[in-house]
Amino acid sequence: MPKQFDKLPIALDVNYLEPNVTTDMVAERQAMVKFVDGLLREGNHPGSEFTGWLKPETIMSDYELAKLNATAKRLANDTDVMLVIGIGGSYLGARAVIEALADDPGRVVYAGQNMSAHYMTRLKALFKGKRVAINVVSKSGTTTEPAIAFRVMRELVDESVERQMIVATTDANKGSLLDAAHKQGWETYVVPDDIGGRYSVLSAVGLLPIAYAGIDIAPLIAGAKACADLCASTSDPLANPAYFYAAARNVMYQQGFGIEVLASFEPRLHYLLEWWKQLYGESEGKENMALFPASVDFTTDLHSLGQYIQEGRRVLAETFLIVDGGEPSLTIPESEDPDGLDYLAGQEVSYVNSKAYEATASAHRSGGVPNMTIHLQQLDAYSMGALIYFFEIACAVSGLMLNVNPFNQPGVEAYKKEMFKLLGKPGYESTESRQAKPKMVSF
Ligand code: PA5
Repeated sequence: MPKQFDKLPIALDVNYLEPNVTTDMVAERQAMVKFVDGLLREGNHPGSEFTGWLKPETIMSDYELAKLNATAKRLANDTDVMLVIGIGGSYLGARAVIEALADDPGRVVYAGQNMSAHYMTRLKALFKGKRVAINVVSKSGTTTEPAIAFRVMRELVDESVERQMIVATTDANKGSLLDAAHKQGWETYVVPDDIGGRYSVLSAVGLLPIAYAGIDIAPLIAGAKACADLCASTSDPLANPAYFYAAARNVMYQQGFGIEVLASFEPRLHYLLEWWKQLYGESEGKENMALFPASVDFTTDLHSLGQYIQEGRRVLAETFLIVDGGEPSLTIPESEDPDGLDYLAGQEVSYVNSKAYEATASAHRSGGVPNMTIHLQQLDAYSMGALIYFFEIACAVSGLMLNVNPFNQPGVEAYKKEMFKLLGKPGYESTESRQAKPKMVSF
């Protein structure tokens, strides 16, 4: 049965989950979801010190928001481009919103999310001579990738204006980035103590670049608050779309499904999918558990991974993210070419795209892929805010249903230890390493 939730700009269609997931199966999880919701709200669970995102309207005060908007406006007036330097939760949320909503997403560029010499060299060449603002974002202040990128890219900002054009978003009280900011006189914004990177998009971490890109942050926060209010009003998954989503994922995981694919038919949601993968992957993927979060951009990937989804190993569940309205009018022109498209002449491109979605959902269901659809009324700041909160709280509930701490990421340390040893970072010389000698096969 399609579920309409009229208090939100989001609706959840769960028709094609059946027969794998029925409303009765979700209802069987009501008590569990209620229990977990209680733990989350009472702060009685592992990681409870990281739930500052639960009330999005309280993350920043009105004064802080006004200050942030003023900084964003000043930087946007005085520069051509903002370089956001960060990795994981320190850049993905901002990028998700900017790519989805900004009139000119290219005004914000990103570094520190990889260590490619080619990528950084090209960025440097591209922005040489441009007026560049840098927002360096790191809660710990010590993450290797953004620290290297900051050193490398800093020369893009003219030394004489560094004080005005570099802004650091970091811990309120400690860390080497904070120390550097104080020493150099850069403006600083705070990553709140009680919010981890991947839940931080509605703090200064995401909001400063988002505001720089010209996006009104008030409706973004209002949309998140609308979803937060609904979730606070009921923990019943049959009345709460985020909790329905969490419970349905749990049913599928318990049935042996191994992968959840988030699929969009709108390219400007590509980075929202990337943000979602980080949120779910880092929050739930521990203790040998959880659905592996993957994503596809349709219809592009219908001509590649679509084959696997339709007929490959039956371990996939799918969630579609669909924008229902608000798309620009673009009609398919008449033509004398014999391309067989006359039956679509005069038709809206967005109509054809919507039929492609309906056809895909139906075909994948027939192919044994249970799927549900999150509908957005339209793609605007309010619905993005609601969607961000929807995914955040569903992730916390889903992780707690698996009995993992959804707010830590201990597994991320493993590669770092090995890398620091290989790089000779002081203090890591005697660390145990599983590094084997390469076993090369010559041809
Ligand atoms: O979600 C998280 O906590 C991580 O993805 C971090 O955001 C990421 O590792 C970057 O950390 P930091 O902000 O400390 O540089």
